[in-house]
Amino acid sequence: MASVEFVHVSKRYGRVEAVSDLSLRIADGEFMTLVGPSGCGKSTTLNMLAGLDEVSAGEILIDDEAVTGMPASERDIAMVFQSYALYPHMSVRDNLGFALKVHGEAKAAIAAKVDRAAAMLGIADLLDRKPRQLSGGQRQRVALGRALVREPRLFLLDEPLSNLDAKLRVQMRAELRLLFDRLETTVVFVTHDQAEAMTLSDRVAIFDRGVVQQVGTPMELYDAPANTFVAGFLGSPPMTFLEATVADGAAGPMLAGEGFALAAPAPRDRLRRGQPVVVGIRPEDIEVSRDAAGHPAATAISLVEPMGSTTIVYAPLGGKLIAIETDKGTDLAPGDPIGIGVPPDRLHLFDPETGRSLSA
Ligand SMILES: Nc1ncnc2c1ncn2[C@@H]1O[C@H](COP(=O)(O)OP(=O)(O)O)[C@@H](O)[C@H]1O
Ligand SMILES: [Mg+2]
Repeated sequence: MASVEFVHVSKRYGRVEAVSDLSLRIADGEFMTLVGPSGCGKSTTLNMLAGLDEVSAGEILIDDEAVTGMPASERDIAMVFQSYALYPHMSVRDNLGFALKVHGEAKAAIAAKVDRAAAMLGIADLLDRKPRQLSGGQRQRVALGRALVREPRLFLLDEPLSNLDAKLRVQMRAELRLLFDRLETTVVFVTHDQAEAMTLSDRVAIFDRGVVQQVGTPMELYDAPANTFVAGFLGSPPMTFLEATVADGAAGPMLAGEGFALAAPAPRDRLRRGQPVVVGIRPEDIEVSRDAAGHPAATAISLVEPMGSTTIVYAPLGGKLIAIETDKGTDLAPGDPIGIGVPPDRLHLFDPETGRSLSA
């Protein structure tokens, strides 16, 4: 186990700044996920921590010790890559034991560690196969096992589930979390998938174009996003953003836009009449009613998507198509007029210029 700290770390490739002024502390035993769209600097961050890439500025500490000039081999870190990077000519057993062999460990000790990792990952009956004789999910387990046998103080995983099909990805996601819960080890996990970040992590750091936007527990980020990027990145279907202006209403300030007027959330003293705002609404926070009259917004259903456990309906509002989560088995159909309401405390408000949350 180990703690990790990035202190004002930047990485430039020529004129591209891949990571900008990253400061982040990862606690001993924590499962930390770095998430963001492709090209936002996640792998670069992981590679700098692993020692595969040099920092351009700043410092990285592991267990409060600067590792900035330390070679990768001395950092006591194991890394799992999206590509698995297995040795094709070696059996699973030899793949698993290879790093230990190179390290000069005794044969019996290697065998014991390989057997234990194989049992943990459910691949004990595959030890004599070659990688090409394995399915994608099995290869993924071998790649994980190769990291496990080393008993490193730190696990780094770069999109380890991305090559699996959707169903297996969800299954491996749960297995991964259970595995690392048992190992009680520090994990830095990289993914572009918001669902993996939400479900796996103790805490999440969200990146956009090399800059960390927000760090917190999955539910902190989901419930109180610091800006529109974080708000739009987490959640599926995503939050809808509507342009509005603060207006006076009979019972206090309203958020008025094209076809809607919603009561503003507290605290209301930060809002002034005429102020432009972006209103963020999550699909599950919307109350739909069959009669459009007397509701804060009126529209009509344009699309119905049954998801099985819920049904998502879409309707035009404020120039956008707003996603609304409804109960499964809803009889709403395209063309049906609906009224929409949102409890004020479920609304998210952002500054249209900066995208920053106005709730903080
Ligand atoms: N070796 C490299 N040389 C030049 N640019 C690079 C190199 N590696 C990454 N980059 C650039 O740095 C940015 C971040 O890349 P990366 O960390 O791989 O993103 P992510 O893993 O989040 O998809 C991208 O713009 C990418 O093109
Ligand atoms: Mg990457």
